[in-house]
Amino acid sequence: MNPLKPLLLLVGAAIVLPWDIALIPGPVPRINLQTENTGPLDEPNYTRESVLFPSVEQGLQLEAWVYRPKHPAASPPPVVVMGHGLGAQKDMGLHNYASRFADSGLAVFVFDYRTFGGSDGMPRNWISPRRHLQDWRSALLYVATGLSADGSVDAARVALWGTSFGGGHALVMAGEQKDAIRAVVPFLDGKLTLQRNLKTRGVLALLRGAAAGLHDHVRGALGQPAAYVRLAGPVGSNSLMQLDEYELESYFSKHPKVYQGGWRNQARAAFGLEASSYRPIESVPHVTAPVLYITAVKDTLCPQEAIQAAVASTPRARQIVMPCTHFDVYRGKEFEQVVEAETAFLLEHLAPEAAAATAAAAAAAAEQDSAAAEQGAAVAGGGDAHEEL
Ligand SMILES: *[C@@H]1O[C@H](CO)[C@@H](O)[C@H](O)[C@H]1NC(C)=O
Repeated sequence: MNPLKPLLLLVGAAIVLPWDIALIPGPVPRINLQTENTGPLDEPNYTRESVLFPSVEQGLQLEAWVYRPKHPAASPPPVVVMGHGLGAQKDMGLHNYASRFADSGLAVFVFDYRTFGGSDGMPRNWISPRRHLQDWRSALLYVATGLSADGSVDAARVALWGTSFGGGHALVMAGEQKDAIRAVVPFLDGKLTLQRNLKTRGVLALLRGAAAGLHDHVRGALGQPAAYVRLAGPVGSNSLMQLDEYELESYFSKHPKVYQGGWRNQARAAFGLEASSYRPIESVPHVTAPVLYITAVKDTLCPQEAIQAAVASTPRARQIVMPCTHFDVYRGKEFEQVVEAETAFLLEHLAPEAAAATAAAAAAAAEQDSAAAEQGAAVAGGGDAHEEL
């Protein structure tokens, strides 16, 4: 029998059968509306404008808000690059953080991943760690070239800020671009960032997610609209993020009334194929920049050990543990506490002397890496020589 046959049958079934009630057939249309909170701002402490910058995907453009402080900490000011979490976009609560950083004299660059918010890309609401990381790279390239060339920011003093799933991306980027990054502020939650809720739901749930992803891909290959799954929903529902009543209320409280780009509480099912193999924790030991971890402990079903492992393997880590749930850091006294701690941390590590010291440490680490690589090559070469004897 052709060994491919069972696979083909499976693929065939995945296309034609409405086999899983969790699947929502697309498409999710893109809606280009100027919404109440996406336009330009001119405030006493800063201006904000939307800019477009190129994606690695030919012809696509990504959108970002650029905050320019009116009382810059330095001229040009250091810059904080911000990316959002799982299935989220910049009009979901990021302005509150960005505006406070700008108040304190920092430039801020808040971008949307492809297929979200003001950024191009179809099908919409496509969560993909691989593409999100490409978008981070595109954002950092634009900040280091376009924005710094016109004197808006100091490309030698860049910090990264990421929340939940985006906190993982920020750590991956900081490990990858040691020479460029001077500070990192991830907000991690074991439940969301490390995808433990997918894992703890068991193998069957993982397989179901993978099958849904396959179904979505095959539909795409056949020119059918994408298939979606619910993003956030109650515990026990068919959702990527299962949240209790309090967490759900907290989650939606940071959302706008009208979403930019026509966002829906759905994510492309394709995510199920990519989700379980993404391991941002592996990047953590390579981050030479100082890292301020914000973690929320309360009411999460999953224990904190994954985050503690990340903190323990970070060369320069500081941690603030908030006695609240995941989405509480966007409002009230928890927001105040977190934003003040983050602002102080950013100002401290983006100051000229501190940033220069971090840059020197990164250069030394890079030298050590290449020396170790050379030594490895020498040892390998010696091995070869031995073989010849
Ligand atoms: C401007 O920034 C200062 C310093 O951070 C702050 O105290 C003040 O409230 C800000 N003004 C406005 C209008 O937000």
